[in-house]
Formats: sequence, structure tokens, C-alpha cells
Amino acid sequence: MERLIISGGSRLKGVVTISGAKNAILPILAASLLSESPLVLEGVPCLDDVKIMKDVLQELGVKVNWDGDAMEINPSGINSTEVSPSLMRMMRASNLVMGALLGRFGRVRVSQPGGCTIGSRPMDLHLKGFIALGAEVGQKHGFIEVNCANLEGAEIHLDFPSVGATENIMMAAVLAQGTTIIRNAAREPEIIDLQNFLNKLGARIKGAGLDIIRIDGVLKVGREINYRVIPDRIETGTYMVAAAVTRGDILIRNTIPEHVEPITAKLREAGIDIKEKEDWIHVRGVDRWNALDVRTMPFPGFPTDMQAQMMVLLSLARGTSIITENIFENRFQHVGELRRMGALIRVEGRSAVVEGVEHLTGAVVEATDLRAGAALVLGGLASDNTTIVEGLQHIDRGYEKLMSKLSILGAKVRRES
Ligand code: UD1
Repeated sequence: MERLIISGGSRLKGVVTISGAKNAILPILAASLLSESPLVLEGVPCLDDVKIMKDVLQELGVKVNWDGDAMEINPSGINSTEVSPSLMRMMRASNLVMGALLGRFGRVRVSQPGGCTIGSRPMDLHLKGFIALGAEVGQKHGFIEVNCANLEGAEIHLDFPSVGATENIMMAAVLAQGTTIIRNAAREPEIIDLQNFLNKLGARIKGAGLDIIRIDGVLKVGREINYRVIPDRIETGTYMVAAAVTRGDILIRNTIPEHVEPITAKLREAGIDIKEKEDWIHVRGVDRWNALDVRTMPFPGFPTDMQAQMMVLLSLARGTSIITENIFENRFQHVGELRRMGALIRVEGRSAVVEGVEHLTGAVVEATDLRAGAALVLGGLASDNTTIVEGLQHIDRGYEKLMSKLSILGAKVRRES
């Protein structure tokens, strides 16, 4: 079992370049199933989740050639509409192929995605959307089967602005007959990226980034395009917090400041010095920062994917902070591990009360999910001595070249088995 050994206490200084966004490339890879022609994706991050999605596409008969950050995809030979349970189990986001397969072939069969450590994560909103478009959904023996010979555009009101449901319904509606309107749609930047990608392929979608999205069905999509994925806003936010908790000085390049506005606003409120322009953000730490209250919300609210990292910052703040998790019901598993490092946190229902301490101390801790893992690495970097982080398979899902990026910034980190 591999572990990360972190000798904390170094101020991180220098330049870090942000990779392509995990949560943008995954739906875009799924959306490429709609295309009848080859295409090239650029800025593809080398992450375990991306490798799994590549395996899913290949299992369906797509030819994939991945070289550096470019991925050539040829979906013209798709010969299956079924994803094997072993691949579905490896990553919940595999469910994003459902909308595209249904849209292009009129059928899809996948195994029921289970719950995961951060919450139960049902699929009801995705399936309600497919049904509204005219599909029949069957769920038996642990499989979900969706069928429809001719999808027809519909008005769909989401009970909650689910990111995955918005994306799956958008993909299913691209080739449907007539117009689909999604109300209370998710507004995350990754939805805009998906719209831009699909429109470049030949789809007719408007409104992504707002809460009403309109998809006018077309007969086919498949221009031979090159498309560059947006930079990862959660990776950006994680390095912003890394600069703050180590009282460092980091210039973050290849990022979109507007996408991390909810994070920037909170860090500034805490007293962290942040400058930004076009495609960079410069974060300079201060000696001590203020406590604050944070509530996770759908975009443009504070992202749940930054909650754990923010908790590390607030563990070292002056005063008591309250963090309320509104998106996932079980997303405080890092609390126990941060306590091992000396943090003073108690959980009361959906809120965590964080009393700031002067120092964190190194400990042996275990990542239970991707962002919890990132938080433990940040805790280790900020702590006085040595931290050992286990459960690295979670971190490998979403942080490209974490070791080398941190080392260049002056962190003392090594990986050992
Ligand atoms: C995506 C992101 C994930 C992020 C999350 C919230 C990807 C690949 N993953 O996940 O990193 O943490 O958005 O920003 O983009 N829900 C239902 N029924 C449904 C669908 C969702 O009740 O049919 C609930 C979920 O259980 C959860 C909430 O809605 O409580 C938000 O989930 P959703 O926005 O769908 O997240 P994901 O798309 O799975």
C-alpha cells in the first residue's frame, strides 16, 4: 500500500500550472459518444478517473489514442451500449455515458451505481429526465436499462440542480426531436464547457451557466474538431489553500479566476492576500487569518469539493468557524483524521464547528475520498512535523502530478510503498 510522507512546515513558493478539469473532461468524454466522426481533446489530465472513462469508451468500441495531454477519439465503430459492472463500480461518473448512448442508439444498460462514502448519490433525477424525453426505464437485478426508439424534446424541471443529471439530460436531448428545456439546471462552469464542446460538434444548446438550458434537437453531430478542456477550478482552489496554510506565495497559472470566485471571496474574507488577472491568480499567505462561516451550495455558491480543504485553513484560523455541508450527507469523514492532527472540530448534524488552533501536528491519517485526501495533504504541509497519508488511490483520481507540483513549490513530500 503506497503512502505519502510529508515533512511539514515549508512555506510553498513558486509557480504552479493547473491541469485540465476532471469534472469537465469526464462528461466531455462521455459526450464524444454522440459524434459520428473522430475528434481530438486537448488539456486532458492524466488522472485515474480519466483512465477509467477511457476504458469505458474502449469497452463500447471507441478507438482512443492518448498521447500526453491530447486524446484522439474515434467513436465511429461503437458496437455496444452496455457498460460492464466492474467499470461502473470503479467510478460513479461512468453513469455519464447513459445520456449519450441513449441519445445516439436509443438504448443503454449499466449496472446500478452504488452509494459512495460521501453520500447515497441516487440517479432519480437523471432517470426522470430520460422518462420525460419519452424513454422507458427498467431497474432489475442491479441493472438500469433505458430504451427509446425516438426521444422527443420536453420541458424538464429538476428538483435539485444536479450536475450529473443536467449533463446526462443535455446529452440525451442533443439528437432528440424538437426542443428540450431544462429548468433549475446546474450552473457549474463544467456545464458550460460541455455545451461549448457539443455545440462545436454541431449541437444547438443555449443557456448553460444559467438555470434554464435550451437544447434544440439536431439530426446528427460529428464535426472533426479539436477541443481544449477548461482548467480545473478545484485543483486551483486546493493550491490557493496550500499557499494560505503554509503562509507561502504561489502564482497559479492556466486558471480562470471567475470560476473560483466563491473560493477567492472566502479566502479574502479570512484575510488572505489574493491578486488575479485573466488566467492567473497570485496568493500570498499571512501569519494568521480570521475564522469564517462557509456553506456549500451549487455554483456559484461555495463548492462542496473545496469544503474539506477549507476546513484545514479554518482549523488554523483565529476564532471559531462553522462549515455547513448542504450537498452531500456524509462529507465530514476528514474530521476524524484532522482531529488526529490536533484540529478542534465537532460535527453537529450538517455543520462542523471548527475552533482555530495555533498548530497542527503530524500524524498517520487515511484519505477516505478524493477531497478528504487533498485536505489531509494540506494539513500535513501546514503541520509542524511528519504526516503519513494513506489511501492515495483516492487522491490519484483527481490531482495530476501532485508530487512534482508540490515539490517544485518547495514541499518536502515523497511517496513510498
Ligand atoms: C458532481 C461532481 C462532484 C461534485 C458534485 C457537486 C463530477 C464528475 N462530479 O457530482 O465532484 O461534488 O457534482 O458539485 O462532475 N442527487 C439526487 N438525485 C440525482 C442526482 C443527484 O438526489 O439523481 C443529489 C446527490 O445525492 C447530491 C446532490 O444531488 O446530494 C448533488 O449531486 P450532483 O450535483 O448530481 O453531483 P454529481 O454530478 O454526482
